[in-house]
Amino acid sequence: MKKLNDIVLASVALEKKFQGADGEISVLDGVDFTLRHGESVSIRGESGCGKSTLLNVLSGLERADAGKLFWREHEVSGYSISKFSTYRVQLMGFIFQDYYLAPELNAIENVLLGARIAGQINLGVRERAEALLIRVGLKERITYSSFKLSGGERQRVAVARALINDPPLVLADEPTGNLDELTGHAVMDLLLEIADESAKSLVLVTHNPEFANRTQRQLVLHFGKLDDA
Ligand SMILES: Nc1ncnc2c1ncn2[C@@H]1O[C@H](COP(=O)(O)OP(=O)(O)OP(=O)(O)O)[C@@H](O)[C@H]1O
Ligand SMILES: [Mg+2]
Repeated sequence: MKKLNDIVLASVALEKKFQGADGEISVLDGVDFTLRHGESVSIRGESGCGKSTLLNVLSGLERADAGKLFWREHEVSGYSISKFSTYRVQLMGFIFQDYYLAPELNAIENVLLGARIAGQINLGVRERAEALLIRVGLKERITYSSFKLSGGERQRVAVARALINDPPLVLADEPTGNLDELTGHAVMDLLLEIADESAKSLVLVTHNPEFANRTQRQLVLHFGKLDDA
């Protein structure tokens, strides 16, 4: 039996419902999940089955209707929104399905936003942001306005932003969904490489079976529950 403090993220019987036009839709219906330090896991499932909802609930961006949520050894289920956000920025970096870059900011300002939110604007953070942008292949785009960046470039800025605070956990929602095959592979290689070299935990939502198979564990979300793929 592994120690509890080895756990970075866990849930027990997590439930989430939405109000649809014809009544309630049960999206998560008892999700049990455990992720250990340094572990990578992929989550697949049909479009609309609740993968983004699951990541949102696991990261405290949305509140579950029932069940328990643990971040490291803490039960956080009852946390307020502000307590969630204070703790979230220390624990995780999030790569959203639709990037969510601030359009009025340029590439490096978007990356630095991740640090600002975490109160991590310190000496050296700009160099770190630059190094990350170079690492994701955007050396020539560091001060480009984000509205001028292509979809793939935006996604790579989003990857750099998720990593700026060197979080122990990265949650990535379809990080290659909008990319061509080559760029998708490059983003995937980078994420797995960085997770591996700094022993980060990674939750990867993807439709791509090849990418899903590159994580240590493969899960599928089906009828509101997570099962081994
Ligand atoms: N805020 C909301 N209000 C009502 N219904 C919602 C809301 N958010 C999501 N849903 C519904 O919940 C279900 C799951 O949505 P979700 O975005 O989690 O799916 P997904 O598995 O991420 O899909 P995709 O693979 O297309 O990204 C969908 O049927 C969606 O319409
Ligand atoms: Mg989704």
